[in-house]
Amino acid sequence: KQKGVGKAPVNIALSKYWGKRNVDLNLPTNSSLSISLPGLGTETQIEWIENQSDQIYLNETKMAFDSSFAQRIRIFLDLFRPSPKGGFIVNTVNSVPTAAGLASSASGYAALVLALNDCFQWGLPLKRLSLLARLGSGSASRSLYEGFALWHKGQLDNGMDSYAEKIDQAWPELCIGLLEIDISTKPISSTKGMQNTVNHCELYQAWPDKAEADLQKIHRAIQDKNFQQLGQTAENNALAMHATMIATWPPILYWQPESVAAMHKIWQLRNDGCNVYFTMDAGPNLKLLFLKQDATVIQTHFPSIKIIQPFPQ
Ligand code: PMV
Repeated sequence: KQKGVGKAPVNIALSKYWGKRNVDLNLPTNSSLSISLPGLGTETQIEWIENQSDQIYLNETKMAFDSSFAQRIRIFLDLFRPSPKGGFIVNTVNSVPTAAGLASSASGYAALVLALNDCFQWGLPLKRLSLLARLGSGSASRSLYEGFALWHKGQLDNGMDSYAEKIDQAWPELCIGLLEIDISTKPISSTKGMQNTVNHCELYQAWPDKAEADLQKIHRAIQDKNFQQLGQTAENNALAMHATMIATWPPILYWQPESVAAMHKIWQLRNDGCNVYFTMDAGPNLKLLFLKQDATVIQTHFPSIKIIQPFPQ
């Protein structure tokens, strides 16, 4: 069999990954913890054909050979080619906007690795596939799982202990609201943003320890089903990550005026007694965290929001 398929969800980090200790291997400076969004993600078909060059399709459109999208996938696929002559036909379909801070690269590389595993009948366990997905995009290591996932930063220089595992805990009342502010491509990629922050931000020194402490707090909040602890820690963690970006020179600011307006609205709602928090990634969009009992109130205040329940009801 030289054909395979894979499907993976996007994930949103509640305790973020920001900074690489090894850029080539996507080894992070800190561990991270995420939640996957079922129904939003990537589905990829792959086929290996002898005596043919690579062809990469995104949402049914053939990507130019020298586009950054195709180049990045080809470099990743170089790790897996069974022979120097031949190529992959990759058909990848995203149900999220590409490169808009909604982690389409995470679901993308996870789905691609699952498709390769199917195509070449590797039969690898998810931990191994997570490690391989990490090589394509760090956050992809967490997209092999539904529900909560923990990506261990690992200690080894070769990255063999840097992969994600599922946190086996369901939280059916938990809701994520996607608030799209702007879905155009981000001005600076997360890889470049991270490198600039690591190299040109004095505040960054404080980040790795804070990230590890926040991860522990969130892990405990999940085990105790302590929503306030989860929301508070996740929002603070995201703002601290963005603080390191803003304090970089030249500054990195992914926010738009509408992002800030939404933050104020969330804080106002919280003052009024609604238990809602937010997190943000390398883009202007917000992801709201709240419980099912508050879904109607949230929908009223943010009519365009897309509400997702990460755990099957
Ligand atoms: O894996 P990348 O290069 O897409 O980086 C992801 C970075 C953040 O989304 C900002 C944080 C995270 O942990 O997902």
